[in-house]
Amino acid sequence: MKNRPSGFGIEELPRILHGQGSYVFDAAGKRYLDGSGGPAVFCLGHAHPEVNAAISKQLQHIAYGYRYLFTSSALDDLTATVLRLCGGNFKDIVFTGSGSEAVEGALKIALQHFAARGLMQKRHFIARRRSWHGNTLGALSVSDFAQRRRAFEGSLLDVTFVSAANAYRLPDGVAAADLAAHLAAELDRAIQSLGPHRVAAFIFEPIVGAAGGVVPAPEGYAQAIQAVCRKHDVLLIADEVMCGAGRTGTWRALEQEGIVPDIMCIAKGLAGGYIPLGATLVTQQVAAPIHGEHGSFMTGQTFTGHTAACAAGLAVQHIVERDSLVDRVRTAGAEFQQAIRAALSKFDEVGDVRGRGFFVGIELVCDPATKAPFAAERALSFDVGARAFADGLICYPCAGHVDGTAGDTIIIAPPYNAGDGELEEIVSKLSRAIEASLSA
Ligand SMILES: Cc1ncc(COP(=O)(O)O)c(C=O)c1O
Repeated sequence: MKNRPSGFGIEELPRILHGQGSYVFDAAGKRYLDGSGGPAVFCLGHAHPEVNAAISKQLQHIAYGYRYLFTSSALDDLTATVLRLCGGNFKDIVFTGSGSEAVEGALKIALQHFAARGLMQKRHFIARRRSWHGNTLGALSVSDFAQRRRAFEGSLLDVTFVSAANAYRLPDGVAAADLAAHLAAELDRAIQSLGPHRVAAFIFEPIVGAAGGVVPAPEGYAQAIQAVCRKHDVLLIADEVMCGAGRTGTWRALEQEGIVPDIMCIAKGLAGGYIPLGATLVTQQVAAPIHGEHGSFMTGQTFTGHTAACAAGLAVQHIVERDSLVDRVRTAGAEFQQAIRAALSKFDEVGDVRGRGFFVGIELVCDPATKAPFAAERALSFDVGARAFADGLICYPCAGHVDGTAGDTIIIAPPYNAGDGELEEIVSKLSRAIEASLSA
């Protein structure tokens, strides 16, 4: 199948002019409500005056004090803030310029950890089906997103994939109540058959984003896979690039599962899209051998810890905390999800509405009884996305989660400070777009 021109089914991209809160405006004067925060990035909406002022102030002093020659207040304060927001569970942070680099860093830190311990055979990664971890070759290698991998097959790392954790699409013969145990046993078997001495890490998205359309794992899953990883001295890497930094109603998505991974990746909501910023967080237990043997993490890049990006992240996190926006996401998110469910209940083709906080996925199915997807050629999710866009609503359509090409989902991920009226507007415009698409 050919790639779509914009990736979202929009034939001619409008020219953006400015943003204001939850809205963006194009050069023709058209207004769009940002119902998905772009790709789940804009947690404070657009053109927030306090964030802009913080960036501008930093730029007036210096844009970037090269990380490997200087530290800075922005870098130090953001480091302390993020470590605190993570409950003191991590020891070190390596800042990056994207989510892909945060994942790349996580994979390399896992390898470096075992190298520092003299376990050079522990080189192999296990990941999950229907996952997305990024576009760099390592991150792409641990991703199972057929359309995005296809052109690079043959040059990717040899990675072992285990099943997705999707309660809406259960493996044959497995009851919902047994899913977590079933998947943990599968991971255990995969590690055993590779040989635990060869496996470095298991990477997963606590709530799958674009590759599944917001899929939270079943209760008990995260704890069960952590126990399996610990048993075999395999590191657990949580990719919270999309679901982290408050989007699901707790600062870390895995807080709700009661576990701390060995390594965690964040990006999108960290600086809310004001300046590119990601980060890899590392626990003391993972960092100690590296510091002891190698001194420092060997994942740094030229722009690691860019000062203006850190100033943006610091301002975003300050506002999110001061205005209790993660609490708002948790409480308003539950009602928002209910409102979406209620508005879409009239469509038989809405098979599932799921998610946490301000991270909601809507799955469209051709046959609700069998959960059979629409034919990939119909490109239903992109059609919904394009119709919503024409009507002034930005949502995030995704495709291919059922078999690599078929499967239609829409992600809704509004800014944490979106007003009640804006949330209502998202629901009504989304419903209108789905109706128009289904009856086309
Ligand atoms: C879960 C997850 N990991 C990693 C990435 C890659 O992040 P980036 O696009 O910033 O490189 C994404 C991007 O969508 C993501 O959703």
